[in-house]
Amino acid sequence: MGNKKRVAVIGAGPCGLAQLRAFQSAAENGVDIPEVVCFEKQENWGGLWLYNWRTGLDEFGEPVHASMYRYLWSNGPKEGLEFADYSFEEHFGKQIASYPPRAVLWDYIKGRVEKANVRDWIRFRTPVRNVNYDDTSGKFNLTSHDLINDKVTTEQFDHVVVANGHFSTPNVPQFEGFENFNGRVLHAHDFRDAVEFKDKNVLIIGTSYSAEDIGSQCWKYGCKSITVSHRTAPMGYNWPDNWKEVPLLTSVSGNTANFKDGSTTEIDAIILCTGYQHHFPFMEEALTLRTANRLATADLYKGVTWVHNPKLFYLGMQDQWYTFNMFDAQAWYVRDTILGKIPTPDKQTMLNDVTQRVANEDAIEDDYGCIRYQGDYVKELIAETDYPSFNVDAANEAFFQWKKHKKENIMGFRDNSYTSAITGTVAPVHHTKWVDALDDSFDTYMKN
Ligand SMILES: Cc1cc2nc3c(=O)[nH]c(=O)nc-3n(C[C@H](O)[C@H](O)[C@H](O)COP(=O)(O)OP(=O)(O)OC[C@H]3O[C@@H](n4cnc5c(N)ncnc54)[C@H](O)[C@@H]3O)c2cc1C
Ligand SMILES: NC(=O)c1ccc[n+]([C@@H]2O[C@H](COP(=O)([O-])OP(=O)(O)OC[C@H]3O[C@@H](n4cnc5c(N)ncnc54)[C@H](OP(=O)(O)O)[C@@H]3O)[C@@H](O)[C@H]2O)c1
Repeated sequence: MGNKKRVAVIGAGPCGLAQLRAFQSAAENGVDIPEVVCFEKQENWGGLWLYNWRTGLDEFGEPVHASMYRYLWSNGPKEGLEFADYSFEEHFGKQIASYPPRAVLWDYIKGRVEKANVRDWIRFRTPVRNVNYDDTSGKFNLTSHDLINDKVTTEQFDHVVVANGHFSTPNVPQFEGFENFNGRVLHAHDFRDAVEFKDKNVLIIGTSYSAEDIGSQCWKYGCKSITVSHRTAPMGYNWPDNWKEVPLLTSVSGNTANFKDGSTTEIDAIILCTGYQHHFPFMEEALTLRTANRLATADLYKGVTWVHNPKLFYLGMQDQWYTFNMFDAQAWYVRDTILGKIPTPDKQTMLNDVTQRVANEDAIEDDYGCIRYQGDYVKELIAETDYPSFNVDAANEAFFQWKKHKKENIMGFRDNSYTSAITGTVAPVHHTKWVDALDDSFDTYMKN
């Protein structure tokens, strides 16, 4: 027992939980697994899917992790993210509609780990403060802070799996005139309730998922108008009448927003949907991942193994079309690497793998290619472990349909249903159209 390897997992969001489930499933099959300790800063599991009304600092002075808001529904079909070892039907006892609200997805995520009985592996309210590698012992020193008892501890681990997410620390640009603006300026990370913007003229900066969805939320809950300002290109959907897309903001004077093409608009609030930073304040410099938010991350062999010290792993650091089942594919792969079932090649081979992945991504022409690329990555990893094989092409197909449905009706795409790649069943149509479903509580949603 004393000689058991020790593995630290940082974060109990979907990635960290996938890692716990991966080890537990091996143990269930009679494998002698290492001691696994998961450190989680929040009071409960689920990562971003755990709703928190707080913004800024929490009651312990820690930065609030949550970036999710009230009324958030899955932005892609659930058929693209379903766990291969735990279907929606297994969890809910029935098939459910394709775009569940946050509370329903959180319930699904926790259902699998409750069944796996791994809660005891997690130290809640315990942020990791520092990780460094000791060449002499060949182990990592990990310092964590038990916030409840205000106790700081340093322990040794043979392996560290970093799973702290990368959509929590905001990227916050500054525009001229913000300091004198007569309304609220906030980043998407601090957005919580669209009702706050009822009857307001809202300016959104950015054109990705946060921009699209926070704008849609504000529209659904009764804002007066939405203006979306883009740096590169407009989103180009068929937006409602009180929604327009404009070039990049140049400055704000009073309540007037000025754009690059010389046009102006009167606004009451500004929401910066300008993305997030990969942020690892607890990692020593030599172990810190520095990467853009892309499909082929820097310095990670097979997208997970830190090429400069292959005892260290990062999960879920890619930009994400695939999420939960890709995290599983990664976690099972990391588990088998730690168990010594999958060999780690020499450094040059690992570096070549990264270079090749980057080149392959750079050659992709459109979003469909990106979906196939990430689907192929999931296939590649699951072929190397005992993660239940599933029809990744069928999951790709759900994403292709989703893109088509968004083009057809951006405020109605969530009313569509898709076929599960795991069980082969077609999701039912939800009882209420997304635009009319103002109450998206778990109980109301599940009335289907
Ligand atoms: C607004 C928003 C909406 C999204 N919507 C969708 C969606 O509809 N569908 C979808 O598939 N994906 C969505 N995503 C993507 C999301 O990234 C993934 O679904 C998923 O949550 C990623 O899991 P993760 O475990 O990597 O990170 P997270 O969910 O961020 O979890 C990381 C965990 O690590 C903990 N942690 C952080 N730092 C420390 C530390 N120092 N010590 C200990 N613990 C720490 C955090 O408290 C957290 O619990 C969304 C993301 C955002 C921001
Ligand atoms: N369930 C949901 O509905 C939902 C809702 C929100 C978010 N999400 C998820 O959250 C994750 C993050 O999405 P995100 O939209 O926050 O981030 P993102 O995808 O990284 O997009 C960042 C956006 O900010 C813009 N931007 C960055 N810096 C800028 C600057 N200085 N000036 C102007 N524009 C700037 C970028 O523009 P360029 O194109 O010019 O680079 C891009 O449009 C995704 O995984 C997404 O799926 C899901």
